[in-house]
Amino acid sequence: MLSAIATLTSRLEQALVNAFGSELEGADPLLVPASNPKFGDYQANCALPLAKRLKDKPRAIAEKIVSNLEVADICEPPEIAGPGFINLRLKTAYLEAQLQIIRKDERLGVEIVKHPQKVVVDFSSPNIAKEMHVGHLRSTIIGDSIARVLEFLGHDVLRLNHVGDWGTQFGMLITHLRDACPEALTGSDTVDIGDLVVFYKQAKKRFDDEDDFKERSRQAVVDLQSGDQDARQAWQVLCNQSRKEFQKIYDLLDIDIIERGESFYNPLLPAVTEDLRDQELLVEDQGAQVVFLDGFTNKAGDPQPVIIQKSDGGFNYATTDLAAIRYRIQKDNAERILIVADAGQANHFNQVLQVAEKAGWVPNTVEMAHIPFGLVQGEDGKRLKTRSGKTVRLKDLLDEGINRARTDLEKRIQDEDRDETEDFIQSVAQTVGIGAVKYADLSQNRTSNYVFSYDKMLALQGNTAPYMLYAYVRVQGISRKGNIDFQTLDDDAPIQLEDDSELTLAKHVLQLDEVIAAVAEDLYPNRLCQYLFELSQKFNQFYDRCSVLQAEEPQRTSRLMLCDLTARTLKLGLSLLGIQVLERM
Ligand code: ARG
Repeated sequence: MLSAIATLTSRLEQALVNAFGSELEGADPLLVPASNPKFGDYQANCALPLAKRLKDKPRAIAEKIVSNLEVADICEPPEIAGPGFINLRLKTAYLEAQLQIIRKDERLGVEIVKHPQKVVVDFSSPNIAKEMHVGHLRSTIIGDSIARVLEFLGHDVLRLNHVGDWGTQFGMLITHLRDACPEALTGSDTVDIGDLVVFYKQAKKRFDDEDDFKERSRQAVVDLQSGDQDARQAWQVLCNQSRKEFQKIYDLLDIDIIERGESFYNPLLPAVTEDLRDQELLVEDQGAQVVFLDGFTNKAGDPQPVIIQKSDGGFNYATTDLAAIRYRIQKDNAERILIVADAGQANHFNQVLQVAEKAGWVPNTVEMAHIPFGLVQGEDGKRLKTRSGKTVRLKDLLDEGINRARTDLEKRIQDEDRDETEDFIQSVAQTVGIGAVKYADLSQNRTSNYVFSYDKMLALQGNTAPYMLYAYVRVQGISRKGNIDFQTLDDDAPIQLEDDSELTLAKHVLQLDEVIAAVAEDLYPNRLCQYLFELSQKFNQFYDRCSVLQAEEPQRTSRLMLCDLTARTLKLGLSLLGIQVLERM
């Protein structure tokens, strides 16, 4: 597929397409990385299927393509292998020249897209007064990384926190607040109603046990919905309290997000029903207003509708999401809507997206998708819990990551007999701890479940944040040791790739733009993690084989440039995952 930005692969693909001529028009060059580096860097596999189509010999077709192929500025003369594979090997001079170009570019050669889109990323989205759990942590980390990648490519990203801040549960919360903490309602903003999760449980218990409480809670819902001052005030107090808790997590994780909760869409819900009714999609079913869709049945095999308005007149989660879709398309002018939520909600989003499409609210130019992710499991393979079986509090989970990173660091400092300040220790522990938690999450294919293990995520070896941070630190160490300022290296000095490990590293560095383009398209940040992991490995291989500071000029400067490019690629790549680098660790 031709990429939206001019990557090396897309240039080669284009050259092949140009070489097809009219006879083969529209064919896919089937360009893939070479199966074996012996054969070069890429191979085009198109001659075989085309031979069938044209009833000719694959080799003859490959020869014809090659004779028209104009890639001399990038590749060695193409070779045809076996039955008709076209092998392409990148020219060393081309690689050297590309490295020179990206070296002088802050963006390391990653172009801004030609057609920036307005993108809504709906992520994190915890629920007021309920636990912000590890599922929300995944949504936060994955959504933030997707947003960062799209922003870096020049898209206009609206980061939305679709918090659950509306619904009938607020009846009991408001009523309990009035009883248990009346001073919270007198207008002073300073009252602390304590742990909201505990508060929620107390309210729920009273709702289940006390008839009078239940009745008052019902009334409170009506009050809140009709805009009653006092009920609104109580609702605000509850939301503010939750917000403060959420913000602590966002601060720790360095997350930028705009709150636009479910309540925001409340006034827009009647218009959703009206429009669906006008289009005759809405039908009455057991007193409720519903939409029937193809392919959704209950356990008994009967068609299962999407409930838009319940028999008591109340709206629900799906209705709010429908209103959100309309608003994002009509008012935000979103061209791409990405909702990062756990895989368990796939059915809900399937239904909602289908209703929106049926209703004609989604123009062809708009892409809308649920970006699902799997569960976080404990080392026992079950849903992550504390030792005593409770849900893990996110703040505790992150603090524990930082503390463990700190213990590791203190041990290293002692072993190496270093003298470090408390500030240094604290900031390294925080960067490593948070980076490790984020990276452990992002490096998994998001659709799979993954096992949360501090030991694994903090290991200095393997596909972990510390391993990558360490590669970066290694380069900074070279600069300190040799007293070298990478920014002032001679601009005209040549880059010369001689050792195999240099060539391998250089080729990898030059693939950054392709990886970022792929993440922007498929929204799998683990691809970027894998790229950075391989980059670190290739750098370490190079550094083990080739001397840098001890090398003779011009090799010395050339290798220093390669080190610097690696470090800058790591730094940029990690920043798109929301992970900071360290100069020393
Ligand atoms: N609040 C929901 C939850 O905790 C996630 C919301 C996702 N976004 C949406 N537009 N429905 O699971």
